[in-house]
Amino acid sequence: MTDTEPTIRPLGPPSPVPPDAVPLYGPRYDKENPARLYGELRNRQGAVLPVLLEDDVPAWLIIGYREVHQVLNDATLFARDSRRWNQWPNVPPDWPLMALVGYQPGSILFSEGAAHQRRAQAMTDAMAEVDRFELRTRCERIADELIDGFCGSDGAELMVQYANRIPALALAGMFGLAESEAWSIAEDVMAVLDGGEGALEAYQRFAGAMARLLAAKRAEPGPDVASRMLNHPAKLTDEELTQDLLIMMIAGQDPTANWIGNTLRLMLIDDRFSLTLAGGRRSVGQAMNEVLWEESPAQNTFRWATRDTRLGGRQIRAGDAVVICLAGANSDPLVLQSQDAGSRGNHAHFSFGHGDHGCPFPAPELGEIIAETSVEVLLDRLPDVRLAVPPNELVWRPAFRVRGLTALPVKFSPAPAVTKV
Ligand code: HEM
Repeated sequence: MTDTEPTIRPLGPPSPVPPDAVPLYGPRYDKENPARLYGELRNRQGAVLPVLLEDDVPAWLIIGYREVHQVLNDATLFARDSRRWNQWPNVPPDWPLMALVGYQPGSILFSEGAAHQRRAQAMTDAMAEVDRFELRTRCERIADELIDGFCGSDGAELMVQYANRIPALALAGMFGLAESEAWSIAEDVMAVLDGGEGALEAYQRFAGAMARLLAAKRAEPGPDVASRMLNHPAKLTDEELTQDLLIMMIAGQDPTANWIGNTLRLMLIDDRFSLTLAGGRRSVGQAMNEVLWEESPAQNTFRWATRDTRLGGRQIRAGDAVVICLAGANSDPLVLQSQDAGSRGNHAHFSFGHGDHGCPFPAPELGEIIAETSVEVLLDRLPDVRLAVPPNELVWRPAFRVRGLTALPVKFSPAPAVTKV
């Protein structure tokens, strides 16, 4: 913990478990599109309902559009520092959702108020200056190189060989990392994300690479995110810079990769998109927006009540965890003006979050450039790309955190490479 961080403790003893609490884990929740389940729950129990997370740890699930908006708009009442959670005595150390709730000292994700604002501003300003044209060109080259790695055969697994790789490589370049280092750093970021055995060592390697990057950029600043954050008036410390660059990598990697994967899946299974592929530049954008409404890569996020309050007719106690269900809000009939998703051209979904801790404003646009370029280049290079398995055999990752595929196997006619590999 830094000297400036306040000490926050659990707000009272664990709240009792309401009798109508619904388990939010298990095969039904993990395998189906949970939006259907949210619809049933909303009809039966309303926009705010008690749920049991893994190991039957209780929390509140917010699935109403208005209620999600209300919670995300009030960062004082529904705050980010998880240390105030009144259920900590019931949470085992190896809890499956620990990566989402475990307080990380010095992380922007758990900081609040002015301390958060200072760091968020530095990120925002540094990303605002990213040259969009250059980012698109770099993504095209990365996409071409990755496709060259498999286009000579007649099939590929697009999550591992393509979608999961592009965002990390693009972000590494955006930060000012040398191309030669980008992939090993991207792999370390993915190992930290996985949280497995090698996560700690991967973090240490990442921190070492960031220390070298910051030293190089301090000596010779460049037109990159690291140099701009280093020289920002917020005067971030090296520790803050390292943490914030890691968070940007992690927060950018997984949702953008799944945005690519979910969009490709939609375009490969849905005739509305495959029929228009020939002249279909616009339809990539439509598919991407539809994915944000219906298969949002970021599904849920947490906040903790700082005092007793009422929400959606429920009594929430100080220290209760509130699971903000972005996907649930997106599927609230209140906001769906039409059942035909194709006609839903607007961007009023919550897939980028909202409020103080929402995706910092330039990031959604940068993620969109990365995702859109990736989808377009793949469809241009492999025009007859198709699923290698029936759509219902595609396997989704456990649903709580992300909506994303474990694998996207495809077939296509072999095509020539276009870059020197
Ligand atoms: C260039 C790519 C991206 C970068 C660098 C990035 C970065 C970030 C960062 C740093 C945060 C934390 C903000 C804070 O706590 O103050 C954040 C939050 C968030 N991002 Fe992004 N992001 C990217 C792309 C995306 C995409 C593509 C999606 C979804 C499709 C997404 C969804 C979200 C959501 C939902 C949150 C809010 C989480 C919460 O409220 O707790 N991001 N992003």
